[in-house]
Amino acid sequence: MKQYSNRMVIIHWLTLLLLIVAWYFGHELDEARHEAGATLAGYIAHSLVGGTLLLLTVLRLYFRSKDGTPPAMGDTLIDKVAKGVHHGLYGLLLLVPVSGMMTIITSDVSKALQAGDATLLPKKFTGVPAHDVHEVLVTVLIVVTVVHLLGAIWHQFIIKDGLIGRMSFIRKD
Ligand code: HEM
Ligand code: HEM
Repeated sequence: MKQYSNRMVIIHWLTLLLLIVAWYFGHELDEARHEAGATLAGYIAHSLVGGTLLLLTVLRLYFRSKDGTPPAMGDTLIDKVAKGVHHGLYGLLLLVPVSGMMTIITSDVSKALQAGDATLLPKKFTGVPAHDVHEVLVTVLIVVTVVHLLGAIWHQFIIKDGLIGRMSFIRKD
């Protein structure tokens, strides 16, 4: 096995795409709330994209257990760090959506959604720790993803070992 399975590759790149959309929707929502213009549709759209990411991650971990992974590139300290980064990313892909769901459940957003009344939406998330956790975890996810991206660039363009081919649709197996 020289590459990740096709379905793992599809979910990997779909995750990148959906993360950008979820991040954008989250920020738009935050800005709209500060300008008293947040809508129920905005919360629903962000939750749907974030929820899809959670489902895809669960599915991806299942496929990973069934399909396996190509052998590690090496056994150096850097290879171990890369593995740790991958595990960290999986953890964050589960925790970020869960903290988002907790933000809704433990705040007035759930009341507004149930009543279908946008005037009940919170102006602030004071006393809602899940919101702070969500915000912090999103930032950690972005930082760890950038480290992951730099690692991929380093492999591809400095070491030139064709690492990105392992996560590619072009099959070599
Ligand atoms: C990986 C998936 C997700 C990403 C990348 C993400 C990203 C973000 C971002 C960037 C914000 C703005 C943070 C701020 O400055 O306040 C945010 C806020 C929020 N997110 Fe998410 N989110 C995700 C999943 C979810 C899910 C699944 C839910 C709920 C089911 C959710 C609910 C919320 C709520 C309620 C807010 C507060 C919006 C506001 O400030 O009014 N998020 N999210
Ligand atoms: C930004 C552009 C990205 C590039 C260029 C990229 C590239 C790669 C490559 C080449 C691999 C294979 C590494 C190997 O064979 O050892 C990989 C694996 C992985 N990537 Fe990315 N990636 C990107 C974005 C992301 C994002 C946004 C996430 C999730 C937040 C992510 C999560 C992962 C995980 C968890 C693995 C390990 C797969 C496994 O062993 O199950 N990647 N990535």
